Amino acid sequence: MKILMVCLGNICRSPLAEGILQDKSNQLSLNWEVDSAGTIATHEGEHPDYRSIEVANKHKIDINNQRSRPFQISDFDIYDLIYVMDESNYNDIIALAKTENEKSKVKMILNELFPNENRNVPDPYFGGDEGFDNVYQMLEKACSIIIEKYK
Ligand code: 4NP
Repeated sequence: MKILMVCLGNICRSPLAEGILQDKSNQLSLNWEVDSAGTIATHEGEHPDYRSIEVANKHKIDINNQRSRPFQISDFDIYDLIYVMDESNYNDIIALAKTENEKSKVKMILNELFPNENRNVPDPYFGGDEGFDNVYQMLEKACSIIIEKYK
């Protein structure tokens, strides 16, 4: 499987989602290719936010080597599934899809936990550390389901 995680800046939520899913894939020797991207290029080349790095570290996941990059049209060809963190990301990515096949790859990640509810992973960027713990827990549960579904 090749899976892309997408949020707005690619420094808070999607780097965590990438780290968590890649870690689960590695533990099961699944050889999945996991990456992440942002819908905006503002933070291109930056490390993940230090609060995402810290919460990942707490769970023995190293996301230090990740760098923010914007979503590219070619990602539709490369990835089997594109998980977005919120409705705004969903609308931005769907607007770039040219075919039904491309559109069908785009999914809201919390629909794995709460089917058809279209819940958002809250953006923790402007909040405190508690927000990052909350995001971590949500993404960990969603990624466990993704692993079970496609392994
Ligand atoms: P992310 O969080 O989309 O989870 O990476 C944000 C990062 C940056 C900004 C907003 C949200 N920003 O406005 O620059």
